[in-house]
Amino acid sequence: MSKESGINLHSLMFIDQIRYVTMIRNKLFMSGVSMRTNEPVISLDKVMVHYGNGIPVLKNISLDLNKKSFYFLTGASGAGKSTLIRLLYMGLKPASGNLKIFGENVSELTPNEICDFRQRIGVVFQDYNLLNHLTILENVALPLKVKGETQRAREHQAKEILDWVGLGNCFNLYPEQLSGGQKQRVAIARAVITRPEIILADEPTGNVDEEIANKLMRLFYGMHKMGTCVIVATHYRQFVDKFSFSEIAIENNKIHLKNNRDGE
Ligand SMILES: Nc1ncnc2c1ncn2[C@@H]1O[C@H](COP(=O)(O)OP(=O)(O)OP(=O)(O)O)[C@@H](O)[C@H]1O
Ligand SMILES: [Mg+2]
Repeated sequence: MSKESGINLHSLMFIDQIRYVTMIRNKLFMSGVSMRTNEPVISLDKVMVHYGNGIPVLKNISLDLNKKSFYFLTGASGAGKSTLIRLLYMGLKPASGNLKIFGENVSELTPNEICDFRQRIGVVFQDYNLLNHLTILENVALPLKVKGETQRAREHQAKEILDWVGLGNCFNLYPEQLSGGQKQRVAIARAVITRPEIILADEPTGNVDEEIANKLMRLFYGMHKMGTCVIVATHYRQFVDKFSFSEIAIENNKIHLKNNRDGE
């Protein structure tokens, strides 16, 4: 991302430097990201979710997630991690109970309002969801286009983040020309480029080697330190143990909050 417009991603590596974090926080505040209220950015109250067959995947889920928090989302394959992420991205509606995002009841939002809310959320889908007819650069720059940024600004920012995730030589390739791990990094770059208030990442490091996985985790950590609520679904126990953030564990269709430290 450009220095003029905000965050220099290279500096995320030094995110523990208090002065830098404070500066970024001020920039986020000035760029319109609300840092004022203590209201949860996500609030679930007795939510139940099912697909067409009517069998509940998630039952009686109650959970408040705050800005500047970091959660690992865990559970066995088929437990419902992607379902929860889909729900929080408003791709699924609760069959019962209440879901509030940014303080608003999702069931009362119009389709336009849902689009606006989604612009404030960065999502990394488990199957990437890249647009095959667009180049890598265009895929990553797309959220900035939706926000109305100039072509020059969005290309500059997209190149910078792609460089940072190690794809500086892939700008003009198409998704089908990339490996799974490369596609995953493109999806992550696209999710963070707008500095969203919420990041939902579904197995974002499942296809990359350990060195890149650590680098990507530092990126999510940096976003969290800057005020974003980050949720990372993962099977990697080593990450959950290493970073010792709070854990939302899905077992038997219910969630269990472990080590709740509110991501600090
Ligand atoms: N589109 C769908 N239609 C019907 N059932 C679905 C659909 N998507 C998922 N399910 C079911 O919902 C349950 C939870 O699936 P989900 O994809 O959320 O699991 P997960 O925890 O993300 O698993 P994994 O770790 O393998 O990605 C599974 O039983 C699955 O079969
Ligand atoms: Mg999944």
